[in-house]
Amino acid sequence: MTINQIVLLILCLLFSNLGLAATKWISLDSDAVKVINDSLGKSISATEVGKDIAIIEVDESKLLLISEIMHEKFNRCGGFIVHDDHKEAFENLDAIYVREHANKGIFADYTINQNELVQEAINQVDQDKIKSTIEKLSSFHNRYYKSKTGVESQAWLKSKWEDLTKGRDDASVDYFNHSDWPQPSVILTIKGNENPDEIVVIGGHADSIAGYWDRAHARAPGADDNASGIATVTEIIRVLVETSFKPAKTIMFMGYAAEEVGLLGSRAIARQFRSNNKTVVGVLQLDMTNFNGSDLDIVMMTDYTNRDQNAFLGTLIDEYIKVPWGYDKCGYGCSDHASWHNSGYPASIPFEAKMREMNRAIHTSRDTLEVSRNSAFHASNFAKLGLAYMIELDR
Ligand code: BES
Ligand code: ZN
Repeated sequence: MTINQIVLLILCLLFSNLGLAATKWISLDSDAVKVINDSLGKSISATEVGKDIAIIEVDESKLLLISEIMHEKFNRCGGFIVHDDHKEAFENLDAIYVREHANKGIFADYTINQNELVQEAINQVDQDKIKSTIEKLSSFHNRYYKSKTGVESQAWLKSKWEDLTKGRDDASVDYFNHSDWPQPSVILTIKGNENPDEIVVIGGHADSIAGYWDRAHARAPGADDNASGIATVTEIIRVLVETSFKPAKTIMFMGYAAEEVGLLGSRAIARQFRSNNKTVVGVLQLDMTNFNGSDLDIVMMTDYTNRDQNAFLGTLIDEYIKVPWGYDKCGYGCSDHASWHNSGYPASIPFEAKMREMNRAIHTSRDTLEVSRNSAFHASNFAKLGLAYMIELDR
């Protein structure tokens, strides 16, 4: 090979690499495709993967511009993923699609037919009871999974649930202890009198967190995140007992430990249920129920949840709660529903607001009831939904 040929070869290699780099494939939400087309003044054809995610081919030099468009028009940071080739884009997209619309676990077909029982129950929801539970839980300095007060708050919760169910021989409250940290999870079980092996779970995380260092001592009231969810669960228990509800299936109420540090408590529980071959017919996660920040009062997260159960919850809202609701996504496994989902159980998380309009005070010392104007009105919708869910699933 002559020197000239070698130089030419190197140039070709360089050139072809540059050439490869010049075309990129990006994956993004379908709604952004038209906006990008309009802004770039040309027509980009998109490969659809499912109805809401698309792949488009773009010149690398346009990536910065697209990023700006996404930020400006959608308030999304980035908002797309860059891939080197179409195949990689497609595989990645497929994975996202499967995850976001994953239908893990089987959710049975239910028809709404417990109207009388549900009405009776939801009429008894008392927002002031929810409010006082939020106040009590926020009064612990923090509910951090490694702190003394995080253990004490769980002892309080256990005795609260025992108190609510005393006199019922079908009910028991237990700690689920975790070997790696001091805070236990708390589980109330009301045993089913017809199909005790079928289990319905309603839960939320009982821990709270704030700050970056010395979290064991930082003030973390966690009024919305997630005293609100635990207070909502507690109100559901109170009303079910008050209305002498005797479930056919087993119902379990859970206050998970150590969610804020990686969904640890719920993961241990869900994995144990899976390895013991437990049949969980539905899981409802209540995490943040009391901040009213959106035009939608209840928002069903689509990722790490069961599509059929989400839709069923929607019909329950239309039938019984009659408030505006819709869908959004966390974009990651943002709460304990993901632990159940990952263990193959149908889970849902009806959330207080759209993701972009969520309560900004969470994970700080400012997450107090004042942010929700010292009221638990918003959370009461979720107590009603939880009651409707428990009663309608109990067949
Ligand atoms: N309540 C939040 C999750 C959340 C925040 C859901 C905003 C929807 C909107 C939860 O307690 C939390 O902070 N989760 C962690 C999860 C992580 C530790 C795996 C998070 O989001 O950082
Ligand atoms: Zn939370």
